[in-house]
Amino acid sequence: MTERETALGDLIIADQETLFQHLADQMGKVAEKAEDRCVIGLTGGSTPKKHYQWMVANGKLPEAAQQKAYWTTSDERMVPLSSDDSNFGNADRMLLQPLGIAEERKFPWPVEVDAHSAALLHNRKWAERFGAQRCFDLCVLGMGDDGHTASLFPGSPLLGAGVMDFFACVEVPGKGWRLTVTEAGLDASRAITIIVTGGNKAERIKTVFNQPAGTYPVQILENYAPRVTWLVDEEAAALIQ
Ligand code: 6PG
Repeated sequence: MTERETALGDLIIADQETLFQHLADQMGKVAEKAEDRCVIGLTGGSTPKKHYQWMVANGKLPEAAQQKAYWTTSDERMVPLSSDDSNFGNADRMLLQPLGIAEERKFPWPVEVDAHSAALLHNRKWAERFGAQRCFDLCVLGMGDDGHTASLFPGSPLLGAGVMDFFACVEVPGKGWRLTVTEAGLDASRAITIIVTGGNKAERIKTVFNQPAGTYPVQILENYAPRVTWLVDEEAAALIQ
């Protein structure tokens, strides 16, 4: 394992199991530190599925997180929770249910309404339940091979728009409506961890860490670098070692 400071945050390069253990440890630490509440926003896509399977198979969720954390996702697709494309639905089926997390600790996006209403509702319910001052205690993100993160895609109207809400909806060309954490939500999060695995991300990881900020959406993490941890496996880090 190697670890170094970068402009985009603390970069940890290791094998997948070491990365998964680090993320599990982080979940425990944020829960232990939490005085009033602990909300963990899991990432979407396919990367977390391997992490969920590993956590459940090895019983790796720390007790503090098991007892104290509330669970949601950092972005969501406008599909039913029952869909295989649902970020929260997958997290619930693959991690939360197998670990016996109580229903009242789950905080899915309200995808049963239209995207604009869902964003409004999520912001309102968040403020009522967790307060309007702090977003995630731990925000977990992924990175697409186009350099997007959460549902902040290249050319997104949300980027640099000064949106004050923690969460917003956005129509993504070719992908339909999405719900996502905003830059304001990231700025109000206590810790941000982005996990990137697989050789198909190697080229993008190289350009993200070497091209000027503002080229890719994921580079917005530079604005929160002291609170950001990159967990990158050896395949995805092959061109920046
Ligand atoms: C989503 C995600 C998205 C994801 C990246 C990486 O809803 O798709 O939140 O930002 O993290 O696209 O996805 P993979 O892990 O599938 O490569």
